[in-house]
Amino acid sequence: MTFTLDEIVPWGRSYDEYVRMFALTEADLGARILGCGDGPASFNAEATRRSGRVVSCDPLYRFDGAAISGRIEATSRHVLEQTRANADAFVWTAIRSVEELGAIRMTAMTQFLDDYARGRADGRYVPAALPHLPFEDRSFELALCSHLLFLYSEQLDAAFHVAAAAELCRVAGEVRIFPLLSLDGRRSPWVERVRQHLTPAGLVVSLETVPYEFQRGGNQMMHIRRR
Ligand SMILES: C[S@@+](CC[C@H](N)C(=O)[O-])C[C@H]1O[C@@H](n2cnc3c(N)ncnc32)[C@H](O)[C@@H]1O
Repeated sequence: MTFTLDEIVPWGRSYDEYVRMFALTEADLGARILGCGDGPASFNAEATRRSGRVVSCDPLYRFDGAAISGRIEATSRHVLEQTRANADAFVWTAIRSVEELGAIRMTAMTQFLDDYARGRADGRYVPAALPHLPFEDRSFELALCSHLLFLYSEQLDAAFHVAAAAELCRVAGEVRIFPLLSLDGRRSPWVERVRQHLTPAGLVVSLETVPYEFQRGGNQMMHIRRR
């Protein structure tokens, strides 16, 4: 898969959102974690500040901070306008308005940008794209994938999802993917396909409710463990 920066809408969530999307416990947060498709989320920056051990990978990290920052500026207003136009598709309780959403996202992305150069030098931000990751088998105890798999079910087909989930299981002992909905707000058709592929390979796949819902109905993750 090749990428130009123009094709990527950088949009990043906060540490607190990651904790709730993946129902992360204190023990989980002490694990060696891979954030796959983390983009400009602040999970890595904030976890590192709290002595966590997080590596993020994303094709976006081929670009430098100035390029990513410029792209965030160029696209954020459009993303917020789209959200406002489709306000009914979201639950406005934890986040109460489009303005608050914009402020939360910009705070998270600024934390990411402030951390990016040092994190890239330290090997915490690795340019890489599913379905082939440049990590040894079981390099991580836990892999997290937020707002990439299942969400982009129209753009990424069943074969991609199956290969990507298998690759995450190769590099990590445990995998969590959020949400299970695609952009149209329906359960992704690839959830069952991934489950059917992984279960015979000796993996236990469960769909679990988590304490996070912003996209209406999006409050479940796929949790994949070894038997
Ligand atoms: C909607 S953003 C989500 C960012 C972050 N995970 C969050 O929830 O805030 C999707 C991210 O997936 C990344 N991405 C796209 N294709 C990818 C691939 N094949 N492998 C890994 N990441 C990819 C994009 O660059 C982008 O940063």
